[in-house]
Amino acid sequence: MPETMSAWEQEGYGPASGVRRVERPIPAPGRGEVLLQVRATALNAGDVRIMLGDPLLVRPVFGIRRPRNPVRGMDVAGTVVALGEGVDGVDVDEEVVVELPGGGGLAQYAVAPAVRLARRPAAVAPHLAATLPIAAGTAWQALDASGVGDGQRVLILGASGGVGTFAVQLAALRGAQVDATCSARNRVVVEGLGAHVIDRDTRPARLPAESYDAVVEIASGAPLRDLRRLVRDGGSVVLVGGDGGRVLGPVPRMLRAALLSAGSNRRIRSLAATPRAEILTRLLDLVAVGRLHPLIEREYSFADVADALAHVEAGHTVGKVVVHVAG
Ligand SMILES: NC(=O)c1ccc[n+]([C@@H]2O[C@H](COP(=O)([O-])OP(=O)(O)OC[C@H]3O[C@@H](n4cnc5c(N)ncnc54)[C@H](OP(=O)(O)O)[C@@H]3O)[C@@H](O)[C@H]2O)c1
Repeated sequence: MPETMSAWEQEGYGPASGVRRVERPIPAPGRGEVLLQVRATALNAGDVRIMLGDPLLVRPVFGIRRPRNPVRGMDVAGTVVALGEGVDGVDVDEEVVVELPGGGGLAQYAVAPAVRLARRPAAVAPHLAATLPIAAGTAWQALDASGVGDGQRVLILGASGGVGTFAVQLAALRGAQVDATCSARNRVVVEGLGAHVIDRDTRPARLPAESYDAVVEIASGAPLRDLRRLVRDGGSVVLVGGDGGRVLGPVPRMLRAALLSAGSNRRIRSLAATPRAEILTRLLDLVAVGRLHPLIEREYSFADVADALAHVEAGHTVGKVVVHVAG
């Protein structure tokens, strides 16, 4: 084992242009943790929000003046190279996938909690596996929250990004009939995933009322009443993403959703997806048997991490962006 590693760090909150490659000691795994040699790391809109410290609400959680962990990258595929105390059920040399909510994946080595690891099947390449934890895990949890099942009609608003491309595929796999919005340039891609595409300039208020069992809101920013109007009696709207204010981000919209839902049988639920190793394992199995296909727009080498972050920061990712770290 070498003693030092390369890592991409930010000194303070700010754009991707401020991220620098540095040499650091390889971290030691603590109790219940493993050390991973990182093979691939996929990026998410969430990495950019933490990198920018935007909305300001993220700063009390991730660090007031600068991120406590200066290394971004939450979705990691890697090889276990050392075990901390008290770790069982996983061995050195195992290939795993994990979500690191605080980041750390844009480095050659990263420490991860052993309980969060999912084994990577040999049939799933590291860069494909790394796309799954946050984007596909969130899509899965959004469909669970809205009870999407066989024969139901679901509308996915903002289907061309990481969460959206997985949500379309997973809803179709559950037997749902999927409508989805995206811009004209992404129409063919989203249709290819199994959705009937509605142009994103079509305002939800102009779609037929009560025509869906579930609406998954990822990016439209449409008024909540307009979204709720689209679902049938007993149906639900799940809020996954979208821009909010500079200070509180999505929180005011989440509070309005709770108020609107009180006493209503058309609920608007705000999703806070959590790392779930058992869901990740099921997603890996779906990819291994060819039923789920991570859509990767761009692959970057470890030397080009700042460019990869800048691309996601621009907000027009189609599917996923992945960094090959080693191997
Ligand atoms: N609630 C949770 O637990 C949770 C978990 C994960 C993510 N999120 C949130 O979910 C959202 C998506 O995350 P992500 O990582 O999938 O993002 P992403 O991959 O960066 O999404 C980018 C895509 O969104 C599309 N888009 C942007 N505005 C749109 C609009 N008004 N209508 C339709 N499409 C639009 C873009 O298409 P164009 O290029 O055509 O604009 C682009 O393809 C973010 O807000 C993220 O913070 C929430």
